[in-house]
Amino acid sequence: MEHIKITKDLPIGFMDSGLGGLSVLQQAVRIMPEEDFIYYGDSANAPYGTKPQEEIRRLTFNVVEKLLDMGIKGLAVACNTATSAAVRLLREKYTDLPIVGIEPAIKPAVEENHGGQIVVMATPMTIAQEKYHKLLDKYRGDKEIVSIPCAGLMEFVEEGDLNGDDLDKYFEEHLVPYLSDNLETIVLGCTHYPFVRPHLRAFLNNPSVNIIDGSVGTSKELMRRLDEKGLLKKDTGRKGTIKIMNSSGTEEMIKRSEKLLKMPVD
Ligand code: DGL
Repeated sequence: MEHIKITKDLPIGFMDSGLGGLSVLQQAVRIMPEEDFIYYGDSANAPYGTKPQEEIRRLTFNVVEKLLDMGIKGLAVACNTATSAAVRLLREKYTDLPIVGIEPAIKPAVEENHGGQIVVMATPMTIAQEKYHKLLDKYRGDKEIVSIPCAGLMEFVEEGDLNGDDLDKYFEEHLVPYLSDNLETIVLGCTHYPFVRPHLRAFLNNPSVNIIDGSVGTSKELMRRLDEKGLLKKDTGRKGTIKIMNSSGTEEMIKRSEKLLKMPVD
C-alpha cells in the first residue's frame, strides 16, 4: 500500500500499451474540458495483448509509476488488456488514487440486443483472462456471443494504417469467418480498434450492425469517481491542457497521437 498526495489541480493520468487509449481520452476531454490530462502510450513495449500476464503487469506498473512521479489525481487504465491483467493489483497498491479501467462493452451489447449475433473483438490476452469469462457469465444469458482474439490488429493503428487493403485482408481472414447472417453488434474490446471503426463499417457495408466500445462509459465513470472525491474541476472558466508522452521516444508517435486525438494538443 502506498500513500499518494492528491490535489484537485493535478492532471488526470491515462495509460495504454500505445495509441489506443486516445480513443478513451477523446471522450474524457469531451465531458471534462476543464481538466488537464497526461497520456502515456507504451508503444515501445506494444503489443501487450500477446504477452504473458506477468509481463503485462510489470509493464503496466512501470507506466503508472511514471505517471505518479509526474503527479496525477486519478488514473484511467485505457487499455482492456492492462485492465484485465493489472487493475485489481493497482487498486490494492494505490488505495488513495481513483482508478478506472475499461472492459469490453458486453453489458450494453446484451441489454440492447434483439436476438442477433454479438461479436467481441479483443486481444488474445483479454479473451483468455478469467475477468473476461466472468463478465460473459454475468451478462450473456441466452445471447449468442462470439469472442474473436485479434492478434495483429492493434499494429495497424500503431502504424497509422487505418484504411488500407491490408486492413480489408485482415478483416476478411480474422473476422468474416465468424460472422453470421444474423450479426447485430460488434463490441470493440480493445481501445485501439475504435480508430479502425470507420473502415470496418465500410468493409461490412451493413448499416444495421452496431459497432460499440466502452470509451464513453469509462470516461463517465472516471468523472463520477473524481466528483465523488471532490477532485473534479468545475466552473473554472479555463480550458484544460493535454500532454502526450510515448515510450518510443519518437516525435513521429507524438504526431500520430495528436492526429488521432484530432484536437489541439499541448
Ligand atoms: N489497447 C489495448 C487494449 O485495449 C491493447 C493493445 C495491445 O495488444 O497492446 O486491449
